[in-house]
Amino acid sequence: MPSPEHHARSALRETVRARADLLSLAARLAVPRAGERCWLRVADCEEFDAWLISWGADSAIDPHDHGDSAGALQVFRGRLIELSREPGEPLTWNARELVPGTPIDIPRWRVHQIENPDPEPALSLHVYSPPLAELEFYPQLALAGTAP
Ligand SMILES: [Fe+2]
Repeated sequence: MPSPEHHARSALRETVRARADLLSLAARLAVPRAGERCWLRVADCEEFDAWLISWGADSAIDPHDHGDSAGALQVFRGRLIELSREPGEPLTWNARELVPGTPIDIPRWRVHQIENPDPEPALSLHVYSPPLAELEFYPQLALAGTAP
């Protein structure tokens, strides 16, 4: 039986392929002000949900996990930075740059923080399987790229 991680990645591919109008949907999103984000749910079914997120300049979401939902993420415009740590490794934070066209996986229970460090807005698609039920937040990192 495929894992939730497999489902999330497959659903991301299918959403991108089947929703050629994703970018026109994105046009419905207000351009967020600096430090803010806007989002739009573009798919909602029993197996997964999908969200377009528009990231204002210098915006971020604090460290959080997605519980028992696995995620997959693809940047369409701009650039995001993800800081993440695996369950049971609270002191080791890994940083990676997310750029258009390269999807990433977000395993269940992974704690991560995402930020748009640039002065231009960014746009990304996030898919969760099973659909996202709740986010659990953790203390903010003192400085991006360093251990708390
Ligand atoms: Fe997340």
